[in-house]
Amino acid sequence: RKLVHVTGARPNFPKAAPVLEALHGRVEQVLVHTGQHYDDRLSRVFFDELGLPEPDLDLGVGSGSHAGQTAAVMTGLEKVFLEHEPDLVVVYGDINSTLAAALVAAKLLVPVAHVEAGLRSFDMTMPEEVNRRVTDQLSDLLLVTSADAVGHLAREGVPADRIHFVGNPMIDTLLKHLDRFDEAAARATHGLDGDYLVATLHRPSNVDDPAAVERLVAVLHRAAERVPLVVPLHPRGRDRLQKAGLHASSAVKILDPLPYTSFLALVRGASAVLTDSGGVQEEAAVLGVPCLTMRPNTERPVTITHGTNRLVTPDEVPAALDEVLARPRAPRPAPLGQRPPLWDGAAGPRIAEAILTYLGTPQALRDHA
Ligand code: UD1
Repeated sequence: RKLVHVTGARPNFPKAAPVLEALHGRVEQVLVHTGQHYDDRLSRVFFDELGLPEPDLDLGVGSGSHAGQTAAVMTGLEKVFLEHEPDLVVVYGDINSTLAAALVAAKLLVPVAHVEAGLRSFDMTMPEEVNRRVTDQLSDLLLVTSADAVGHLAREGVPADRIHFVGNPMIDTLLKHLDRFDEAAARATHGLDGDYLVATLHRPSNVDDPAAVERLVAVLHRAAERVPLVVPLHPRGRDRLQKAGLHASSAVKILDPLPYTSFLALVRGASAVLTDSGGVQEEAAVLGVPCLTMRPNTERPVTITHGTNRLVTPDEVPAALDEVLARPRAPRPAPLGQRPPLWDGAAGPRIAEAILTYLGTPQALRDHA
């Protein structure tokens, strides 16, 4: 039995690591990196820090338009799947590489397992929402992180026996490395004492529109007047944020993208996080750090109902910060009972069981025939 895992960009790596580990030695595994992210700081450093095996193949696809990037991943993966003849292709999250892999596998009649299936923002202007919906329609095994995702998939007509509520493998990775998130070291490195905020912004809806980005930059500088702000900048949007006036000062520290443990050490010590990232909403929820998500919606509502997350408009940020800064600091990480259900560090083994069970079923043999 052979699996091909397809990864491509920064948020994939902490999701794939526990799945590869839990399946190690139980089935043949091929790890593909599409090369969607190619900066060492978005890719290499995660493999090193998370102890991921070297990818067996790197397609070196790189950046491009959505169509160009997706097409390049598809062309590369078609050759890989034809050569390796996997029994199952495992895809992660909602990036262009995820969609590309699911499309190629489906056309070659190779079954697909989607890790982090069923999340919905119901906002089709987000490229990730398009990727999530299409990937789920093409998947045979839907591995979900939260109960709301089960409901979405059921309403979209996915048969119940294909859906498995397994918890969140990215949180397995977080809990595994928790002892390395050294808040004191992060403070020393970045010259921080007392309260500070961490901000991350890279969504097209926030950084591509000049009016939106200017409004956000003003909000960030205003927040920094109250509490020093640290901003690790994703390459996407860096120029636009800086053109819109984001600048370093005694209260604003602008950093390159950070390695996994350095970033989460900073988050762990922060008074609050301001973000538009999906993964950071989840990580903040488990670390017990208040999270203000600068988006009109989230595909991860469990981080609001069972976590620390709140959606805010730019105008709402000052009052939300007042409220958050006045609260006593909650335990970090949040105790198990205050986290989303099954975000307990054991999602990888559950995913492995679901995959191995699937591979042994007549359904899998039929799908693959
Ligand atoms: C991708 C995912 C997004 C995820 C994010 C995490 C899609 C549609 N989006 O967005 O869901 O939240 O990764 O980081 O797949 N770039 C570099 N170096 C790199 C990679 C990208 O400089 O290694 C720059 C390039 O200017 C590139 C731009 O970022 O054009 C966009 O890269 P791309 O991979 O298309 O999407 P991300 O914005 O990184």
